[in-house]
Amino acid sequence: MTNNNNNNIPVNEMHWPLVDKADKKKPKIRDLPYCQGNRKQRLEQQRKALPIASVEKRLVEEVQKNDTLIIVGETGSGKTTQLPQFLLNGGFCHDGKIIGITQPRRVAAVTVAKRVAEECGVELGQKVGYSIRFEDVTSSSTRIKYMTDGLLLREALLDPFLSRYSVIIVDEAHERTIHTDVLLGLLKNVQNARSRSINKCLNIENTEANYGKLLKRENDANCVSILKRCQGVKFPSLKLIIMSASLDARGFSEYFGGARSVYIQGRQFPVDIFYTHHAEPDYVDAALITIFQIHLEEGPGDILVFLTGQEEIESVERLVQERLRQLPEGSQKLLTVPIFSSLPSEQQMKAFMPAPAGFRKVILATNIAETSVTIPGIKYVIDPGVVKARTYNAHTGIESLDIVKTSKAQALQRSGRAGRERPGKCFRLYPESEFGQLADSTEPEIKRCNLSNVILQLKALGVDDIIGFDFLEKPSRMAIVKSLEQLFLLGAITDDSKLSDPIGHQMARLPLDPVYSKALILASQFNCLEEMLIAVAMLSVESIFYTPREKLEEARTAMKCFSSPEGDHITLINVYRASDEFVEKIKQGNDKEKTEKKLRKWCKENFINSRSLRHARDIHSQIRRHAEQMGLCVASCGDDMLQFRRCLAASFFLNAALKQPEGTYRALASGQSVRIHPSSVLFRTKPECIIFNELVQTNHCYIRNITRIDFLWLPELAPQYYAVQN
Ligand code: CDP
Ligand code: MG
Repeated sequence: MTNNNNNNIPVNEMHWPLVDKADKKKPKIRDLPYCQGNRKQRLEQQRKALPIASVEKRLVEEVQKNDTLIIVGETGSGKTTQLPQFLLNGGFCHDGKIIGITQPRRVAAVTVAKRVAEECGVELGQKVGYSIRFEDVTSSSTRIKYMTDGLLLREALLDPFLSRYSVIIVDEAHERTIHTDVLLGLLKNVQNARSRSINKCLNIENTEANYGKLLKRENDANCVSILKRCQGVKFPSLKLIIMSASLDARGFSEYFGGARSVYIQGRQFPVDIFYTHHAEPDYVDAALITIFQIHLEEGPGDILVFLTGQEEIESVERLVQERLRQLPEGSQKLLTVPIFSSLPSEQQMKAFMPAPAGFRKVILATNIAETSVTIPGIKYVIDPGVVKARTYNAHTGIESLDIVKTSKAQALQRSGRAGRERPGKCFRLYPESEFGQLADSTEPEIKRCNLSNVILQLKALGVDDIIGFDFLEKPSRMAIVKSLEQLFLLGAITDDSKLSDPIGHQMARLPLDPVYSKALILASQFNCLEEMLIAVAMLSVESIFYTPREKLEEARTAMKCFSSPEGDHITLINVYRASDEFVEKIKQGNDKEKTEKKLRKWCKENFINSRSLRHARDIHSQIRRHAEQMGLCVASCGDDMLQFRRCLAASFFLNAALKQPEGTYRALASGQSVRIHPSSVLFRTKPECIIFNELVQTNHCYIRNITRIDFLWLPELAPQYYAVQN
């Protein structure tokens, strides 16, 4: 391993001592060791010490003077937690309006809202709250509202002027998620429309007759569409703040007509960067070795490890526990804490609590810890240099989640996490020469994902001309056309590219990917909505089953009790129903907490990931409520699973595949050659014709979540595609 200070540490030659030791009890994170009064004082001191605290007055003035402001500041300088409080104190909510702050990630919205509620000394959900898909913790008294960018887009469907907000802060804009990009375009329109509404209300009486005259004078089609739906209402102007951790504010400023940008000086201690001598064939293993090397050889300080997803984090968690047992007794004081988006929020909070005295904390995180959340206490960062990212092939129309190399900007952000409170160290698990070859920055998501969801929402917002929409960065015409085609095939838009009634409107209302929304709508017609709600909920979470390497056979046997010869969808339904039956059985005589605990034990015995199952159960109850509100018929097909499989074929016909003589499959829509993933229950049986829900690209193109169908169902149930094309 090489270091830019020539201070060599041979990380890849490291061996941890293999000493047999009795199993030690995992330590629990204690509650904070100080009482309420002291905690309050300490929070106050921490707030005052943040770099942003010294510029409170100036920032409030800047927002008063500028309708659009770009704020750039080092991660941890206090932007996300402090600015909304400054604006609240600065009188921006005096008329009962709300300050909204959008985050690309659920975790950030939740943890930051909790922190700010605590800083303000209020109950979460009162003055300070958050709202994310499937979870709304706000009330009529909420003034500071954290939410995901996707959620604000949905709100705009019901309230096109976003009239409840006086200020909207788009946070983490440098991440350039697809929702952030679309939101910026939309907010630009809303801001224009709101200021025009003021002018008009000042100049002429806004009667319906006058409104017609107004429309004629307008030439901005998008603005008109918003105005059309808000006839005769007067709105105050909307303050827009774009916040970003990276230094390039120019793009945002130009997009908003030369908007003013301000910089907040951060506080960053030096970080020593270490590289490996050679490329590491297995980054998970290299990360493990490095964790133990730091633990045994370096001074105090917590470790932050960047991994690619829930499955990987959970497997590293188990491996660390295993290896820990082999260490001598005195050196076992290492505590693993996972943090990823779908982790239940009270478990996410554990990452922010200090480790018990004498313990070192290892935080195993996805790239949410890059900029979205600031975890105190980190001195060491381990960066394998990879991230899970969406990629989209506009030619085939297929989107997949792949593990790709980070950009230079991401690598710098990651190493920066080690120098927040004092000098730190960052271990990059790749050679220095590789760093030079990384892309400078990450390509915006809008350029590498399926656009059908976003297009559906824009259409529902009245934006008909998608190609003409003022995007910060335009997606390729090909990607737009492909997504429009997909929406047309799903029946969401008509052949003149208008949202169809009622299907398109119904689909836009459901907080799901368009194909899943369509599956629910179809299922109500096929009388199997009960089954489809479960399937969609289970498909919305990562890895329901877990198969530890050392217990592979046991896990396979456990899975057999649930598995269906028809495929993974029915298998998932079987798991869900078995968990339901179990909960029903134990509910009597047990309180909620006990029931949860017993369910976790049941999951463990059955090799089911209890976190994922719990998440799926939450999603299920939410989408069921949506379906009921929309008046869909929630019925079960009982034992008639043929009906359910036919509905799967009718819904996911774009993901059908046919077996080839050599045992691989050909995806019918794209012509791509794919293989059944070994985790599928159909891995061995290999039926002739299947539909699938997920594509994973590793050394091969694998498909997951698969069900057997009859080839002839395709022209029968999806004639709009198969009768014409194939
Ligand atoms: O947004 P920015 O990265 O500029 O900083 P922030 O999220 O407002 O965080 C400011 C400080 O608050 C961090 O340095 C953390 O020490 C602290 N914080 C925390 O302890 N717990 C949280 N959930 C959020 C922030
Ligand atoms: Mg922030």
